[in-house]
Amino acid sequence: MADVTPLLELRNLRKTFIAGARTVQAVRDVSFTVGPGEIVGLVGESGSGKSTVADLVLGLERPDSGEIFYGGRPLPELLAGSGRGYRAAVQAVFQDSVQAMDGRKTVGWSIAEPLVIHKVARGAALRARVAELLRAVHLDPALAGRYPHQISGGQAQRAGIARALALKPALLVCDEAVSALDVSVQAQIVNLFLEIQERYGTAMLFIGHSLPVVRHLADRMVVMYAGAVAEQGPAEQVCSAPRHPYTRLLIDSAPSFEPGPSPAGPRRTRGEGLPAAGCRFAPRCPLVTDTCRTADPAPREVGAGHSSACLRAGELTVAETRPSRFSTEKRRPG
Ligand SMILES: Nc1ncnc2c1ncn2[C@@H]1O[C@H](COP(=O)(O)OP(=O)(O)O)[C@@H](O)[C@H]1O
Ligand SMILES: [Mg+2]
Repeated sequence: MADVTPLLELRNLRKTFIAGARTVQAVRDVSFTVGPGEIVGLVGESGSGKSTVADLVLGLERPDSGEIFYGGRPLPELLAGSGRGYRAAVQAVFQDSVQAMDGRKTVGWSIAEPLVIHKVARGAALRARVAELLRAVHLDPALAGRYPHQISGGQAQRAGIARALALKPALLVCDEAVSALDVSVQAQIVNLFLEIQERYGTAMLFIGHSLPVVRHLADRMVVMYAGAVAEQGPAEQVCSAPRHPYTRLLIDSAPSFEPGPSPAGPRRTRGEGLPAAGCRFAPRCPLVTDTCRTADPAPREVGAGHSSACLRAGELTVAETRPSRFSTEKRRPG
């Protein structure tokens, strides 16, 4: 994708929240791109800063520093005035679509709303477009007359996707868009997103805490830990030959995407427990060395379009990252 202008580019983003006496560096120097029609997966434990990245991209939060470019243009420029062009082109799908919809309005009304606001259609043409959108997400157009509480969680999520598609966006920001659903429904919605990518060429920033789920759709993967990007690269490479111990941990601790309901939620990255210096992951890292406790590693290229922010990335070969071998040279018996 290097020769194509990225659809979305995040450059050295930083965002700090002050909550009472506590300062949280929610996003620390995050950089990555989303190409046209590309699905980029953004994964990490709860609290790693994923939703803050989504909010920055959606213009709901402003970065302390760093820049976001869409189609090569800076975000503040695109949001100036009504910001309508950007707000139509970049749409969000959240975890709970029932919550996101107005409970007093019908499902059809919620899907029609963006078309009305942006003056795209009215009257019969509006109703026809809503029916078309419902069919596009494999829902019966008759559902337009129902209220959010009268449909299932999976149907609500499909309706939320229909609403997000109404203005023919170039980019969907999906923040935990399948996380609240039963595993069987998750798989259906994941497939719907893939179908949307294929049919409309829609790019996606697909955020989730479950690596196996996100891996299923992502072309590229960005792994966040404690506000920073630990590793990023082609999804298959990152997932089958991770070059950061944190990615390895995510893979090993993740429940499989196929069977059964997922167990307890992911472990939270606790801001209070993070070291003030060195690599933030050092206290939990099985490969930690003394250097890791003082030097905060910057992302380094480990392959084509693949980078890792680990000092020992070079030692993490495919063999080294097998769980049974996941120990330092020193500790290996014999
Ligand atoms: N509006 C806010 N005010 C204070 N702290 C916040 C706010 N939003 C997020 N945070 C903090 O920033 C960190 C990252 O949160 P978030 O981006 O929601 O992570 P994730 O989506 O990966 O779970 C967390 O420590 C969270 O408590
Ligand atoms: Mg979140």
